[in-house]
Order: sequence, then C-alpha cells, then structure tokens
Amino acid sequence: MLRLQYLVTVHINICMKNFKYLDIDNMELVSEKIYNYIRDTTDILQVSPWNPNWLPLSLDVINQVPELGKFISDLNLDLRSIHVLRTWRTSKLHVDTRTDIRINFPVSNTLGSAVTHFYELKDCVRVEKFLQGYSYYDLEYSDQKIIDSYVLDRPVAFNPDVPHQVVHAVQETTPRLILTMSFHNSPTYLLDDEII
Ligand SMILES: [Fe+2]
Repeated sequence: MLRLQYLVTVHINICMKNFKYLDIDNMELVSEKIYNYIRDTTDILQVSPWNPNWLPLSLDVINQVPELGKFISDLNLDLRSIHVLRTWRTSKLHVDTRTDIRINFPVSNTLGSAVTHFYELKDCVRVEKFLQGYSYYDLEYSDQKIIDSYVLDRPVAFNPDVPHQVVHAVQETTPRLILTMSFHNSPTYLLDDEII
C-alpha cells in the first residue's frame, strides 16, 4: 500500500510592533492617585525644572495604588522596576541599553505637546552615554525617517530597542510626568504582530 504523506507548511511571520496601546478602566483616577503618591513620597516636583528627571519609585506604589497593581497583574506581569520621568522639552533621539519591553503610564500633562516618535536610521552607530547614573545609547546617523508615533493618552507597551525620542512642540510650562515600568517577564507578547 502506498501511503502518501503530505506536509503542510504554514508560514508564520512574527514581527514586533514598535508600541501598543493598552486598556485600563478609570485611567484619570489611577493617574491622579499615582500623581498624589509621587507628590507625597518624592521631591521630583520640587527639583530644578530645566533638566529631565528620572527617579526610581518604591514597588510599594502598586499597593498604595491597587488599580495600578491590578492593571499589572491582569497582564500577568511581574514588576521589576518602576521609575517616574519628568520632562519639559524634547529629548535626544536614543536607544535604551535595557531592551526588554516596557510599559509607560501617563500621570500628568501627557496631553500637552509631546509626541513619542520611532525612527528608522541610516548608517546608525550607537554610542553609550550616561545620564543621572543611567546608561543609554546616543545615536549617530546620516538620515532619519519617522516610522511610528504615539501620544501617551493611555498606557503604552513599547520596544525601547527601536530608536525613539519624545518631541515637545513647545517647551512645557507644566511638567509632563509619566511612569515607566519594566518586568521580570518582559511582555514581548504584547508587541507580537502575527501575519499568517
Ligand atoms: Fe528611551
């Protein structure tokens, strides 16, 4: 008996998105609670306004703002670190040295003039630099093209290994305050873009 076996090959092309918006209920309320926590437990709102400021927060914030804890646990994520970032003006185009997928969460004034752009760069060379004790890659390149953009009007998972920059159209008079969170289990799956 002749038995024919047919091998069916399904091509799955998995590409990674640059970012993805995430849903959360009552975001304004959660942002307000986070803002109050930052105001009451750090001095980041008082320090000199003309430098970007980047400050680690206690993981206890997810106990003090349980809605944020629920948002993280609903995504099956194990929080590794959480920082608050305050900006007024356009940041340098850069790549982060830690390449695990992070989630940014709006806290206040994120509906100002700021837009986060992702870029494709030609002849790109990475140069490690340090700012406030944290390293990042400064980039040298011959040409740039914006390939994606988001406004932080809700939480966003994003890939910090893609060249990116927060562009403020004007210098803000009120700081833009966000949380950026990293996880022991990097949520790469959130950015999977499956094409069959
Ligand atoms: Fe970055």
